[in-house]
Amino acid sequence: MSVPVFEEIKALIGEIEAQAPASQEELEQFRIRFLGSKNVLKGLMGEIKNIPNELKRDFGQLINQAKEAAEQKFAEVKDRLDAAGDDAAAGHLDLTAPGEPYILGSRHPVSITMNRIIRIFERIGFVVAEGPEIEDDWHNFTAMNTPEDHPARDMQDTYYLRNSTTMLLRTHTSPVQARVMESQQPPIRIIAPGRVYRNETISARSHCQFHQVEGLYIDENVSFADMKQTLLYFAREMYGANTSIRLRPSFFPFTEPSAEMDVSCFICDAKGCNICKYTGWVEILGCGMVDPQVLENCGIDSKKYTGFAFGMGIERQAILRYKVNDIRLFFENDSRFLKQFSSAI
Ligand code: PHE
Repeated sequence: MSVPVFEEIKALIGEIEAQAPASQEELEQFRIRFLGSKNVLKGLMGEIKNIPNELKRDFGQLINQAKEAAEQKFAEVKDRLDAAGDDAAAGHLDLTAPGEPYILGSRHPVSITMNRIIRIFERIGFVVAEGPEIEDDWHNFTAMNTPEDHPARDMQDTYYLRNSTTMLLRTHTSPVQARVMESQQPPIRIIAPGRVYRNETISARSHCQFHQVEGLYIDENVSFADMKQTLLYFAREMYGANTSIRLRPSFFPFTEPSAEMDVSCFICDAKGCNICKYTGWVEILGCGMVDPQVLENCGIDSKKYTGFAFGMGIERQAILRYKVNDIRLFFENDSRFLKQFSSAI
């Protein structure tokens, strides 16, 4: 059975679908007509009392269909007009709008510590030198007085490159000493920071990669006393003016005599704590007078020149300074850890 009001609603649906409001004003007209509090559909709803009972359901569905068509059209057109409005507004720069916050990065604690060490030595005339991380056997070991089959090579478990017995990831920054001596004559006063690699099991206390700073001073009449005074100056700049040092005899193939240097514990003022293991001292570097054989290997006259060298682990200094209890934290790139040092010096 065809009821005239059904045709009327169908025509209205057609009309809604054909509408294309082109401005916010036209859209508002559309809204008032089809969705407002006195919209046409509500008016037609009043007709329900004249609809035979068996058709009331169909009538209701048709009215709903018209309402949904109006809502959908309204939402569609509104999105389009709003977006166009934003584009138009984008042409105008609003200087009063709040800015987008930038997440600032922070320097890595290893870089902070490295820069600090470099600055201390720069003040007494050392200049930065660099060398490759992929080294050859000559610079890493042989020139440094550690020939093949020498048991001292076992002190540093080495990563060799695949299919190569001569190329390796440097195990220390000492090869930079050799490279500098080969390329220039004394006076030499360099500091060489950089990354080094050793085949170590990764734990809280050791890692297969870490950073070192190497120092080398060669000139006429350079003595052990010069080395001691230079390192005392460094220790006081780094760990505080009251710091004391002590040198313990040690062995490195490239220095003779060799020593390990301890500083008085700056955490507990040498009273004893778990950092210094209740000794009052913490070990921070290895050092010694450059072995004459190393000077000769690198083309420097060992009769005329003497010198000293030292090397220290940078993470170790950072661990002590910032009381970090796990070396792995430096390599995990967790920004929650790293950002804590941004204001540190
Ligand atoms: N290269 C040594 C090491 O990695 C440290 C060192 C450097 C010792 C210079 C003496 C002189 O353990």
